Amino acid sequence: MENGYRIETKCIQSGWKPGCGEPRVLPIYQSTTFKYDDSDQMGRLFDLEAEGYFYTRLQNPTNDAVAAKITELEGGFAGMLTSSGQAANYYAVFNICEAGGHIVCSNSIYGGTYNLFGTTMKKQGIECTFVNPDASYEELSAAFRLDTKAVFAETISNPSIVVLDIEKFARLAHDHGVPLIVDNTFATPINCRPFEWGADIVTHSTTKYMDGHAMAVGGAIIDSGNFDWMAHADKFPGLTTKDESYHGIVYAEKFGKGAFITKATAQLMRDLGSIPSPMNAFLLNVGLETLHLRMARHCENAQKVAEFLNGHEKVAWVNYAGLSDNPYYELAQKYMPGGTCGVMAFGVRGDREAAMRFMDSLKLTAIVTHVADARTCILHPASHTHRQMSEAELNEAGIRPDLMRLSIGIENVEDIIADLAEALKAI
Ligand SMILES: Cc1ncc(COP(=O)(O)O)c(C=O)c1O
Repeated sequence: MENGYRIETKCIQSGWKPGCGEPRVLPIYQSTTFKYDDSDQMGRLFDLEAEGYFYTRLQNPTNDAVAAKITELEGGFAGMLTSSGQAANYYAVFNICEAGGHIVCSNSIYGGTYNLFGTTMKKQGIECTFVNPDASYEELSAAFRLDTKAVFAETISNPSIVVLDIEKFARLAHDHGVPLIVDNTFATPINCRPFEWGADIVTHSTTKYMDGHAMAVGGAIIDSGNFDWMAHADKFPGLTTKDESYHGIVYAEKFGKGAFITKATAQLMRDLGSIPSPMNAFLLNVGLETLHLRMARHCENAQKVAEFLNGHEKVAWVNYAGLSDNPYYELAQKYMPGGTCGVMAFGVRGDREAAMRFMDSLKLTAIVTHVADARTCILHPASHTHRQMSEAELNEAGIRPDLMRLSIGIENVEDIIADLAEALKAI
């Protein structure tokens, strides 16, 4: 019944379910520990034989209620919160790909994720082949190896605003016996639910639209429960063979559709500990309650701004999938008919100096590292978020040196356009 509610209702009502006489609003369980009457009760929790709370690094009622809400929004089976989007992407991959493993990853992704997979995880013995997401099925197939464990991509890439052909990627992953992990941060489940198109696991930097107010860094991992680990048992021994650190539990046998999230919680969260504070989960929940209203306004404003920039003589190019001449327009219409997101990329005519002069002349639009929150902001990835990447890597990832990432907020759009128009005069 509950899952039958429409997404707007889920934004408000899912997650926290108060019993009679309990707080109407999700409480902040700001407690590291939970009390039990006898030691056997606690022992059963440690053995994963009973459900309940014992230590917030593993589970906390506030965090779990928010994870349950995001799981319902995505239409998933189980979910967990992490302390950041970085942790979510790391855990999602590391949960099934250990030293000696390999992943195939779209090269159009957030710079931090690119570093994580391309550099840091390489030091842990995990290799990553970056692929052009627009390549043909056959070209993409060539990237797979016998030790490939997962495919990773972003629904709408940050900052190059490439829209993923989710069905193509899901088919590719499944034909090679591995799951598709999709970072759905920019689209949010309001605009796209990747499980409906075949993705198996979804991640989020909840720091962005979900929180929406730039108050709390956070992440989430949601599992559809659809990938059959046992059917590919030798590829995923972590899920299909005994975990000696839990008395020989076989996650896929004992937890079925919940295996992936149970393992990520019981092993990775236990050992690596990237949990959000309950206070941050509470703030995230406040953001989620208005996600549907904000996403609609972000998209409406962004469409108007993209059209304004597209028609401006001092603007060289605009990349926003809502523009009908955009190469990703068709894919956006298919996967996100209600709108994509509030983020676009564009370049002004002239050199890098011109771009800097334009940015420095903005008044309402702030220069910040952040993206995808209520306030309009701008960033030059080549000199900010992606500055560790070489010129060749930038080009490969579709990030032109003149690219500016503009994140449209939910202010009055006329004020945003007036600010941009004024700053363009400075060039
Ligand atoms: C698409 C995407 N995924 C993941 C991340 C990392 O998230 P966080 O900053 O919450 O660690 C970001 C950050 O910008 C992002 O844009």
